[in-house]
Amino acid sequence: MKFILVLLILFNCEVFEKKQNKDTNRNLVLFALLNNRSSSSSSYNWNLPQGFPTPRVPSENPMSEAKVELGRFLFYDKRLSGNETQSCASCHLQRLAFTDGKDFPSGITGEVHPRNSQNLANVVYNSRLTWANNGLLTLEQQSRIPLFGENPIELGLSNNNYLAKLSSDSRYRDFFSKAFGGGSENITEQNIRFALSSFQRSLLSGNSRVDQYTNRTNRSALNSSEIRGLDLFNSEVAECFHCHGGFNFTDSINHQNVTQAEVVYTNNGSLSAVEYSVLPLNKKGLMEVTGKSTDEGKFKAPSLRNIALTFPYMHNGSFKCNVSSPTNIDACATEALGKVIDNYAMGGKTHPNKDTSFIRPFSITSQERTDLINFLKALTDTEFINNPKHSDPFR
Ligand code: HEC
Ligand code: HEC
Repeated sequence: MKFILVLLILFNCEVFEKKQNKDTNRNLVLFALLNNRSSSSSSYNWNLPQGFPTPRVPSENPMSEAKVELGRFLFYDKRLSGNETQSCASCHLQRLAFTDGKDFPSGITGEVHPRNSQNLANVVYNSRLTWANNGLLTLEQQSRIPLFGENPIELGLSNNNYLAKLSSDSRYRDFFSKAFGGGSENITEQNIRFALSSFQRSLLSGNSRVDQYTNRTNRSALNSSEIRGLDLFNSEVAECFHCHGGFNFTDSINHQNVTQAEVVYTNNGSLSAVEYSVLPLNKKGLMEVTGKSTDEGKFKAPSLRNIALTFPYMHNGSFKCNVSSPTNIDACATEALGKVIDNYAMGGKTHPNKDTSFIRPFSITSQERTDLINFLKALTDTEFINNPKHSDPFR
């Protein structure tokens, strides 16, 4: 296979040199063939964690190592913002499982986003993107919002200067031609989004101690408190697994083994109807998109992977520890997770849209509460947050 590819490359170059002006069409065909081959996803090695299904990827943007690596640079490059002060990584920090520790982030103009920054671990499996937009199906679509969105302004790109900036960098010229073939004409807005998407699809987290215990049957990976917490999580008492179940600890999931992507938006009682009544539409969840009051407070249940790193919790960051810039992450996670559990245990706040089949009061001893917190903290994947392949290449 590799041999054939090399031959093709050689053949192609030769054709190109000899017949440059005569046979343009044929060259284009050959180039297309070559590009197709270089980006074929069959040659991409996902390195899937044990128990993870094969992801589904849009056919127009197959995975390749070259795109993932280019996407990594773009994800961390501040030249992809209107005033070169922010990149995707400004709100998605690897050490916090690609969240930012804030209630609400600000974009390049200081405008505050109405919602909390989301973690990007295993984002390839999310059937819908963002907290509550049921129309956002692909990462290719989603990345337009932080790049060009004006409501709110995040990275604030408004003209094509950024393309000129990237084109003047020889490293990018090289990267783009490796990823998409051709020359610097391939440094386009679409290819930037395609590479960013490929990079994000490579962000796989599946080596927490919970994974070691359940998928690799390493019975000593969890201690007895964490095992009791796991059982409680999966019990009909706490009911957590109904919405945060499966290998990615969420019920909104898509991969090659499901015929249809699963999408669920629920109101988990994190805010009351009275609290929502004074909020603007862009803080009301699915209702912002559908216009229906029956969708007020409905959100996608996020994956709970690396949850001990991603506080403050919920779409509005309202479950948090009292310290504003915590130095002890572990203590802060314990406090904030405790508040989340207490809210579920009291059956959530009062709201007519609340999912009353699973959000119901339950009684929990203080030991069980600690067990559940300990289990959630064992979902941290230290390999993931330290993986050099996901890290800032400009450092
Ligand atoms: C100013 C902060 C900020 C910047 C910069 C930013 N994001 Fe985000 N990101 C957020 C917030 C806030 C959300 C939740 C959005 C919502 O619910 O509408 C989010 C959500 C996402 C999601 C959805 C995740 C999921 O699980 O559904 C993806 C994917 C994402 N961002 C990728 C990116 C990429 C790629 C970039 C750079 C092009 C970027 N973000 C730049 C703050 C930011
Ligand atoms: C009926 C579905 C449902 C059930 C049951 C449920 N959750 Fe949730 N969970 C959600 C939704 C929806 C959100 C996001 C709500 C929001 O942002 O306002 C959420 C958010 C969370 C968050 C915050 C995640 C983040 O990234 O900010 C944690 C932690 C959490 N749930 C833990 C639990 C635990 C522990 C249980 C069991 C005691 C549980 N959930 C039961 C639907 C559910």
